[in-house]
Amino acid sequence: MESKISILITCLIFATAFQLLLPLSEASLEVGYYNYKNRCPKAESIVNYTVSSFVKKNSGLGAGLIRMFFHDCFVRGCDASVLLDPSPANPDPEKKSIPNNPSLRGFDVIDAAKAALEKACPGVVSCADIIALAARDAAYLLGKISYDIPTGRRDGKVSINAEALQFLPAPFFNLSQLEASFAIKGLNTSDMVALSGAHSIGRSHCSSFTSRLYPTTDPTMSARFANFLRILCPPPQNATIDGVVPQNFLKPNRLSKQYYFNVKALLGLFFSDWSLLTSKETRQQVTDYTTTPGLFEADFAKAMVKMGSIEVLTFPQGEIRGPTCRL
Ligand code: HEM
Repeated sequence: MESKISILITCLIFATAFQLLLPLSEASLEVGYYNYKNRCPKAESIVNYTVSSFVKKNSGLGAGLIRMFFHDCFVRGCDASVLLDPSPANPDPEKKSIPNNPSLRGFDVIDAAKAALEKACPGVVSCADIIALAARDAAYLLGKISYDIPTGRRDGKVSINAEALQFLPAPFFNLSQLEASFAIKGLNTSDMVALSGAHSIGRSHCSSFTSRLYPTTDPTMSARFANFLRILCPPPQNATIDGVVPQNFLKPNRLSKQYYFNVKALLGLFFSDWSLLTSKETRQQVTDYTTTPGLFEADFAKAMVKMGSIEVLTFPQGEIRGPTCRL
């Protein structure tokens, strides 16, 4: 009996010591994580090189990577669960969900970065960090928005289609629905308004907004803009394919405050974009971004870092997935 008690006490002491040590060692993310302890000093430059070469050929992929980061972090935290392919054990992962399929893109960029990283430092760099670094690099390439992103995330093993639908905000959400979906992930309304500036780049499928064009024009959209969009996007029942249009017709590949000018002019594609005008505070923030130089860029950078810390897994949780991020 006595020896059992002493074993129990020893276990308790170890457990407590382990927990106390965690915050000092691996429990939180840190800028330059892969540079320390010679983990993989080339990690960030390998991701940067890969992202640059893809985005130079197709700038839309930069938009895809920024959206991938958002869709990863909002579902089970930033754990690369969005990258997992269907498998016999898990036939219905996030990747197959309506918000991700077929619109999410940039998977090939992550594959190429992971392959290069596995050659340089096998089994060291997580897929979750590759997404976070790739989104950071895309923000620089498309918007000259520059920030350090802490790393040290580990990868999850679970990915569930229904959770993407549950946690990702929909384009028909009103302001309180948008606020709620960000709040549940620890992001406030101001973060939400700043991050929405990502809708200055990339594209949307017609199906994401045709409910604002047919049968009648949504009065929260500019009538002239709606007429123009109707040329590009026929009524869903007549459409043979789900076409795509740029989110920002003026400068589709420039991550910039142009989004906020568009929102004010009722030129946002989604009802959710227009919703940012529906409270005094969010309307003011939209205006501030259009009038104060550098404000959007600074807030966007801060909010991307904050988003990158949502429900992260750190050692000893999760795993370093490999050799590919898809399995
Ligand atoms: C506020 C709530 C949000 C809603 C309702 C929303 C909804 C959408 C929808 C429906 C699309 C078009 C998908 C398609 O049909 O192809 C889209 C595209 C996009 N979203 Fe969002 N989004 C939101 C927030 C964000 C955030 C926080 C980010 C990143 C920081 C982001 C980045 C993007 C980007 C870059 C694209 C273009 C993707 C591409 O070209 O591949 N969005 N969003």
